[in-house]
Amino acid sequence: MNRQNLFKMLIDKAAGISKGDGDNEFKLNAICGLLKNNLPGYDWVGFYLVDKNNDRELVLGPYAGDPTDHVRIPFGRGICGQAAETEETFIIDDVTAENNYLACSINVKSEIVIPIFRNNRIIGELDIDSHKKSAFTDQDEQFLKKIGKIAADLI
Ligand code: SME
Repeated sequence: MNRQNLFKMLIDKAAGISKGDGDNEFKLNAICGLLKNNLPGYDWVGFYLVDKNNDRELVLGPYAGDPTDHVRIPFGRGICGQAAETEETFIIDDVTAENNYLACSINVKSEIVIPIFRNNRIIGELDIDSHKKSAFTDQDEQFLKKIGKIAADLI
């Protein structure tokens, strides 16, 4: 299956998870696993959620992959914090070239972060790390924005 068809299938599956059984945390976890298990190069897939008690800080939500030390990230810090601050997607081809980057693992070489919105306010992010350089393209961005919209109903 080519990547575009795979993306379409995964969007349908994520929508099915969203409408299916289980609580929201279970469903977000299942979406992380769906992406990590089906897309080569998606080596860590997780959600960061805007803290309900501090809207300038992200807290780690459901994820699939190795545990990370970065459980709380202030807006502005690292790639995730910059994406939260600017409300823009960040695609980083080579994380070693970044000054404002929080390393989760020495194996990570590239990263994409997609902000997630509800009623035009940022409520969280989808963060993917890859062990390959330049793993993410505009097509990944378009795909992940659709996944982000599905996830928004679960945050
Ligand atoms: N690399 C991220 C931190 C989160 S971990 O990758 C899971 C950053 O620079 O914000």
